[in-house]
Amino acid sequence: MMLKAVGWAERPFTHSSMNPSFSFSPRLVTKLDEVRAAIAAARRDGKTIGLVPTMGALHAGHLSLVKRSRQECGFTVTTIFVNPTQFGPREDFARYPRTLQTDLALLGPTGADVVFAPEAGDVYGPQHATYVEMHGVAEPWEGRCRPGHFRGVATVVLKLFNMVAPDRAYFGQKDYQQSLVIRRLVADLDLPIEVCVCPTVREPDGLALSSRNVYLSPAEREDALAIGRALRRAAELVQSGQREAAAVAEAMRAVLATAPGLRVEYLAVVDAETLQAIATIDRTVLAAIAAFVGPTRLIDNTLLSP
Ligand code: PAF
Repeated sequence: MMLKAVGWAERPFTHSSMNPSFSFSPRLVTKLDEVRAAIAAARRDGKTIGLVPTMGALHAGHLSLVKRSRQECGFTVTTIFVNPTQFGPREDFARYPRTLQTDLALLGPTGADVVFAPEAGDVYGPQHATYVEMHGVAEPWEGRCRPGHFRGVATVVLKLFNMVAPDRAYFGQKDYQQSLVIRRLVADLDLPIEVCVCPTVREPDGLALSSRNVYLSPAEREDALAIGRALRRAAELVQSGQREAAAVAEAMRAVLATAPGLRVEYLAVVDAETLQAIATIDRTVLAAIAAFVGPTRLIDNTLLSP
């Protein structure tokens, strides 16, 4: 089956392991009552429900979440919704890649059961006035650089949880702070949902897969590789016995400085649970980077254990 491009934002998916040309599409629904009916039927059949929330522009990272859900749950709902409330006014909401036809073709071979792609007006009605505000883990790093971002994420994820009522929900470690925010949301609001965080999927050269990688020119992509190199350097140092967080951070900065087109927004070597600064690496820590490569903002991270 040949796929028809949908609009200017449709871009070819280049990951070598995937060919969307020979696949069938999963069932696509756009209305809440349709997705709820499909889920109710699956529940009647005794199936557990897995949810993979996405904003589309799918890549192998997303597909790994769908595969994991398929392994662990009887019925998998993938949502595709570019959530306006998690983008700041100067961020890339308008140009965020929207590739629904390609996404459906990619999901076909994973055996995704239902794709729920609601309209923005159905998610946020004209009277919408309720948002989730989170303190603590939502405040530093991404929270500081992207004011309102986690308010939008927590709000839409809670809404998706209420719409789908999954047993398990799957997120990628690349958005590590987001996964902490969602765990906090689930714990604080007593949601009966297991949050599963799955490993970051990378290109062979170490670049973490991201829907925003399509923005990168070849030269920018080259600079972006320094992010993965800096994280690998941090892991090597900790493996070889370095326990000073500041020394690890300095070594990471030195690696990033080798990429002329890269501007670091933050670099953190912090407690992996609280995201607070630490002096000594005496527990699992998170090394995280946010950087601009040209106009494109990329994030990546790794967990380091002494
Ligand atoms: O990680 C994402 O793609 C989004 O933040 C999410 C969780 C789908 C909420 O819009």
